[in-house]
Amino acid sequence: CNTDNMVSITVTLYTLFEKAINEAYPDVTDPPIIIAPSNNSKFGDYQCNSALPLCKLLSSTNLEGKQRILPKDVAEKIVSKVSSSPLIEKLEVAAAGFINICLKHEFAQIVLKNILKNNKICAPPIIRKRKVIVDFSSPNVAKEMHVGHLRSTIIGDSICRLLEFLGHNVLRLNHIGDWGTQFGMLIAHLEDKFPNYSTESPPISDLQSFYKESKIRFDNDEEFKKRAYANVVKLQACEPKIIQAWKLICDVSKQEFQSIYDRLNVNLIERGESYYQKHMENLVKDLETKQFLEEDDGRKIMWGENKNGIPLTVIKRDGGFTYDTSDLAALKQRIMEEGAEWIIYVTDGGQATHFQTIISCAKRAKIVLSCHRVDHVGFGVVLGEDKKKFKTRSGDTVKLSDLLDEGLKRAEQKLKEKERDKVLTEREFNLAKESIAYGCIKYADLCHNRNHEYVFSFDKMLEDKGNTAVYLLYALTRIRSIARMANITRDQIKETVDVTPISLDHPKEWQLAKVILKFPDIVMKIAKDLCLHSLCEFCYEIACTFTEFYDNCYCVEKNQTGEIVKVNMGRILLTEATAMMLEKCLTLLGLNSVEKM
Ligand code: ARG
Repeated sequence: CNTDNMVSITVTLYTLFEKAINEAYPDVTDPPIIIAPSNNSKFGDYQCNSALPLCKLLSSTNLEGKQRILPKDVAEKIVSKVSSSPLIEKLEVAAAGFINICLKHEFAQIVLKNILKNNKICAPPIIRKRKVIVDFSSPNVAKEMHVGHLRSTIIGDSICRLLEFLGHNVLRLNHIGDWGTQFGMLIAHLEDKFPNYSTESPPISDLQSFYKESKIRFDNDEEFKKRAYANVVKLQACEPKIIQAWKLICDVSKQEFQSIYDRLNVNLIERGESYYQKHMENLVKDLETKQFLEEDDGRKIMWGENKNGIPLTVIKRDGGFTYDTSDLAALKQRIMEEGAEWIIYVTDGGQATHFQTIISCAKRAKIVLSCHRVDHVGFGVVLGEDKKKFKTRSGDTVKLSDLLDEGLKRAEQKLKEKERDKVLTEREFNLAKESIAYGCIKYADLCHNRNHEYVFSFDKMLEDKGNTAVYLLYALTRIRSIARMANITRDQIKETVDVTPISLDHPKEWQLAKVILKFPDIVMKIAKDLCLHSLCEFCYEIACTFTEFYDNCYCVEKNQTGEIVKVNMGRILLTEATAMMLEKCLTLLGLNSVEKM
């Protein structure tokens, strides 16, 4: 993959102008460097808007002597210092001191040609490949995997896809809640209900009801409660029979989780809280020796770096460990044993304080050093169409498998409304149905700023206009079909790339090319803020800009009888590059595109 030209335009221009401004005004410390795409092509393709604030700065400090300084003069001085670059065609200074930057079409030619020649979209080069651990999905055994876990699964998977694409070494971990006192009662209930569990696998089909049954007994039956507690002790001591019961219960849940991951095409390595048992013991010993733990009303707590906020509870009054203990132990294991340099937790925003405290304590204990990056990727709650917490009509938590089934049903209806069942083969129809159903659920989640709550609405997500999965999936099939209708094969495209220039002279062609060139900027930004809605906005921008191009520029000309009389190969090339770009972005979002729908 030749990534030389997959550079971020904003970063390249920033560097060029930073150098020029420093040369022009060596006495100004930290001058403002402002680069942005122009929103009107009259003002070039990009703009440098540094002259105005720089001028204010110069006037106030009077660094340039007594005479009045004009933004226009500042801009001209900057322009005179900008070194030549393969990116820049020309620079113009507008009256108010804005510097309009026109990009070289040749540069766009090279980028687009590379896409077609490589037959793939290459990632922009990164400075250092890092070992990244993404902790996401992470439902709890014997409890409902709910829409919050679905959000974590969708967002986490997309973050992994993006970082993998950039070339990082990503470990996708499912931090399942598979340890804790609830297992005491579950095991006691299992012993009573299925006494032969050690020889015959118990037919538990509904673990949630099983959980509820055991909880009722736990709350009302003292003798049962005692046995439950005794089981917890035995579990922690790893008594074989109890461990076997624990595994059986976990397996039932894990199978359910796996079926959701299979349907959504999400890969995850399961490494639940139980994995860190030994690590917790060692961590606690270490923290005790280093005197990080403090007594607090029978508990042992640990404060973060500057003793504000809330401390972690490392050991409970009864001597047991907590969610805090396991997360601190896990973080240490991930850094020390896995060699992780970057750790990302994807959970609801409600856990933000928990992770801040974990990170702060880990810094204090010198587990997390300045070379490590640790992010908590939080997200808002999922609401129903009534703007209340997402629930079924009867008020229960929505079962994820039911939700996905509903998605399939709705997607099927949608396709039938459009009479697609009459055109597509059965196989094509089913592929389209799945692509739409799972695609719309994922996309609706990702296209909102993750920090905000979002309203789950099948009606909205299945709309075929606006920034929705359905619109984009359709747009992609439409773009793909243009070359197919002109009877142009992939091989022909590959052959033509070297001899036919990609058509960029029409303003709409150029506008489309410029959108495609923004890709490195978009992905680099997401690698920083881990907010995927920018990628969704980018997809939508591609689709809309393509429509404008297609409405204005013939790719294929037909005569009155519908025969093709002329194929504009330069435009077909642009069309293909657009399709590849859109498809790549959809893949990064976890959407599966189809040939026909
Ligand atoms: N199981 C937890 C929950 O359902 C999420 C775990 C997130 N990961 C972590 N390392 N704490 O809320």
